[in-house]
Amino acid sequence: MHITIYTKVKVIAAFLLTYLFSYTAAADKVEVLHWWTSKGSEEKAIGSLKSDLAKRGIGWQDMPIVGGGGGNSTTVLRARVSGGNPPTSAALLGYAITDWAKTEGALANLNDIAEKQNWAGIIPKALQKFSKHNGNWVAAPIDFHSTNWVWINKSALDATGGKVPSTWEELVTVLDAMKANGIIPLGHGGEAWQEMTIFDSIFLSLGDDFYQSAFIDLDPKALGGAKMLEAFNRMAKLRTYVDDDFSGRDWNIVVSMVTDGKAGMQIMGDWAKGVILNAGKEADKDFVCIRFPGTQGAITFNSGQFVMFKSDNAEQQAMQKEMASSIMSEKVQFNFNIHKGSIPARTDMSGDNFDSCGQKAIKDLAQADADGRLYGSMAHGHAAPGEYQSIVYDVVTAHFNGEMTSEEAVEELVASIEDAKKL
Ligand code: GAL
Repeated sequence: MHITIYTKVKVIAAFLLTYLFSYTAAADKVEVLHWWTSKGSEEKAIGSLKSDLAKRGIGWQDMPIVGGGGGNSTTVLRARVSGGNPPTSAALLGYAITDWAKTEGALANLNDIAEKQNWAGIIPKALQKFSKHNGNWVAAPIDFHSTNWVWINKSALDATGGKVPSTWEELVTVLDAMKANGIIPLGHGGEAWQEMTIFDSIFLSLGDDFYQSAFIDLDPKALGGAKMLEAFNRMAKLRTYVDDDFSGRDWNIVVSMVTDGKAGMQIMGDWAKGVILNAGKEADKDFVCIRFPGTQGAITFNSGQFVMFKSDNAEQQAMQKEMASSIMSEKVQFNFNIHKGSIPARTDMSGDNFDSCGQKAIKDLAQADADGRLYGSMAHGHAAPGEYQSIVYDVVTAHFNGEMTSEEAVEELVASIEDAKKL
């Protein structure tokens, strides 16, 4: 994987944190590992689960691991479990859940609580694919995110004439106008997962069939075809709108650049909106949310889900069930997602109290689900298993950083994915 020195420092810091505070689960507490550390938004979101558990008489041992996208958290979790000291519960994304579910004896079975709360009837089917393994419930989803969003500063957009871009060409026109107006057109943080988040959107904008066959089916023809080359060329074009200091910048710093008007827009999942709203900004007045041009009606999604690590301790087991039930309660789903910028991972809740972007997200989910246009995000671990995701990360980030041409990137991607299939 393409790892910058900055990322390495963050991973080492995450490890130190784990070992310094290494902790064995107490009878009255759950120890929860996650990466939701963004001030104001993610911290408040996770705080809403913590306070609901407190009302249920359950204490909270926080194990936050800094690092957007959850990569560091996943690494720390692996170290904890192989050291024989798993946390009570951990947040995971997509195929990482499946990997743990396949690990003999690692995860607790949540079937009885799932039955009681009718998870099968309320959780979107696209998420159930990851919440269940071999017919058993192993994870409780706390949010539903989509990654194909663009967050645009309203004044910066108005200064370009105010036309919301709905095609690639219109997007380029707005970016050019922002450049001419003297701001950074595209706010971006140079980390592989952030580059990949942009790539998800470009990919989907080139067609549902293309996204499905290249990213989900890993079909070599689609991976090596003309649309793939076009996708890399569009990435190279977007690279020209990013400022020089992008390397290693955290995603929430980028959000602030957009809310402050230093940058015109950010292509990012809806956790960005949590930070925007927390800064006191209002949808439609201060910022505009649009689906990445060309992806209207379709969604690339990801969802944070909590797994419970198997324990012999009866009190721990009881608290794990209570925690799963709290996660799926309407109250926690509402409070968590209002702060995080996402929407509930249940399809039976009203969107009335969400801002206009949240209401749009709820409608979009219902529509995309009905139309069969929901696709797992490659950037966030829901399109293909980790071994393939890391290949795409490597190539996309190397290309974005000018280490290979678009033609070389296509070739490298096809070859590496075919090699990985043989393992
Ligand atoms: C995503 C995750 C979100 C958010 C984001 C930034 O992968 O699903 O919950 O935290 O990373 O860290």
